[in-house]
Amino acid sequence: MQSRIYLDHAATTPIRTEVKAAMEPFLERGGFGNPSSLHSEGQRAKRALDEARAIVAESIGAEFSEINFNSGGTEADNAALVGVMLANRRRGEHLITSQIEHEAVLHTAQFVETLGF
Ligand SMILES: Cc1ncc(COP(=O)(O)O)c(C=O)c1O
Repeated sequence: MQSRIYLDHAATTPIRTEVKAAMEPFLERGGFGNPSSLHSEGQRAKRALDEARAIVAESIGAEFSEINFNSGGTEADNAALVGVMLANRRRGEHLITSQIEHEAVLHTAQFVETLGF
């Protein structure tokens, strides 16, 4: 039988053992919580997120407030492109992209076009 080699880790990859271990307490009953909520479950999740935010910020020389976590690539593309375009509209109304971009980028570019860019 031919062995398979998976070459698409940029798209998705197995979770590292250390990451799984760190996340497990927050995935189980009694540990999960919405970090925007005021109850203790939420506040515990917020503390954990803020700890992670501080570690990521320090590791790349960024400010704590500059680190945003999201659900994945599509959401990041949307937030970055729409956010940057709207925040800088007075500096110009052009977004330059190319056909080799990921569809999530192209669709977001088409969306900002509907906003007049
Ligand atoms: C630039 C870019 N945007 C979006 C995606 C899709 O990511 P997700 O499936 O996490 O939304 C990818 C996936 O590789 C990507 O490379």
